[in-house]
Amino acid sequence: MVKVSASFAALAVLLPVVSAQSQVWGQCGGIGWTGATTCVAGSSCVEQNSYYSQCLPGAAAPSSVPAGPSQTSTASSGSPTSGSTAKLQTVAKSAGKLYFGTATDNSELSDTAYTAILDDNTMFGQITPANSMKWDATEPSQGQFTFSGADQIANLAKTNGMLLRGHNCVWYNQLPSWVSNGGFTTAQLTSIIQTHCSTLVGRYKGQVCTCPSHSWDVVNEPFNDDGTWRSDVFYNTLGTSFVEIALNAARQADPTAKIYINDYNIESPGAKSTAMQNLVKSLKSSNVPIDGVGLQCHFIVGETPSSASLIQNMNAFTALGVEVAITELDIRMTLPSTAALLAQQKTDYTTVISACQAVSGCVGVTVWDWTDKYSWVPSTFSGQGAACPWDQNFQKKPAFDGIVTGFGN
Ligand code: G3I
Repeated sequence: MVKVSASFAALAVLLPVVSAQSQVWGQCGGIGWTGATTCVAGSSCVEQNSYYSQCLPGAAAPSSVPAGPSQTSTASSGSPTSGSTAKLQTVAKSAGKLYFGTATDNSELSDTAYTAILDDNTMFGQITPANSMKWDATEPSQGQFTFSGADQIANLAKTNGMLLRGHNCVWYNQLPSWVSNGGFTTAQLTSIIQTHCSTLVGRYKGQVCTCPSHSWDVVNEPFNDDGTWRSDVFYNTLGTSFVEIALNAARQADPTAKIYINDYNIESPGAKSTAMQNLVKSLKSSNVPIDGVGLQCHFIVGETPSSASLIQNMNAFTALGVEVAITELDIRMTLPSTAALLAQQKTDYTTVISACQAVSGCVGVTVWDWTDKYSWVPSTFSGQGAACPWDQNFQKKPAFDGIVTGFGN
């Protein structure tokens, strides 16, 4: 909803705490907000949720950023769809971000209707392999590396001129039993991590060299939701040192890659985010290499964190000297989807994208696959789904428009 700007000169006399106008990306309204409620020229106040309205550039005026028309129509399913011709990578780049990207998986690449959209590098400027770089896929037996699936995705990125996000080196899940069964000395597991991370990261060194940078989720999901360390073979054998062992190996294997720790439920302030911030501080103070923190952002329609809390949290990370990225965005709903749920989902996508847009250290956004056809959600959360910006028939949903709006269009 776009609020029409109005003169608040008279009100300012009565309420001295109210400043003149909010800057672009600044807050301009919301429950409890006592600051300015109008925006500087060239931007306008857009409600993100009841608690947060934000000055978005050009929201009420013609935009300088090219984006296609956004018309809502109705699919044969009866669901509203987007008629937008915007290209998300183009929109994200014009908004100053490095990329808009998506996860993809090898089994999806034989679907030519899927790849026709995936391969458009004006729509997606970055891809993350959803499964094929994980430990069970790349080193199923000790010292026996298998890269066929991983290479396919890396080559796709290269062919299409897309950034590659490596995912991941060290994670408790999708581990082959020779690792998860444990029984290692600290020296043995240190060597196992070093070999795995350096071989995996080193394999793709320079393979996407026409791109400005690429990233690796070196450590994935190290914390429990209460901010304590997750009990797994790595932590139980090596304590917290597994993190720096993995980061150091990755840095040495490809000094040009941005190396990240990636997790979920660290997107807004709370115990788990605090734990991640403390880890970053500790790594920084020990001169352990760390470039970024990945905010997964697996959200629920109507329960997505507010833009204010997303921004506050991202700023807390970037203040520590790391970049952040939205690495696995999807926003699921209880099925069946309805027009109302799809409308709320559109709002929620705008909230997340506009939060990234508001923080210069938020470098890009990746959706955890772009189509409901290949979303991980229904098989994990019974009765839930429709989490992606395109539906299962590759029709753009209102959420697509929500993304475009979030980038300021
Ligand atoms: O490859 C086998 C296939 O041979 C077998 O027939 C089939 C039967 O279930 O399973 C296939 O493996 C599945 C694999 O995806 C590949 O499709 C696994 O069962 C399934 O558990 C696995 O799910 C992946 C999940 O991670 C595992 O935790 C999802 O595709 C993947 O999208 C998801 O991604 C994670 C990120 O890595 C980390 N953050 C959360 C995110 C969502 O869970």
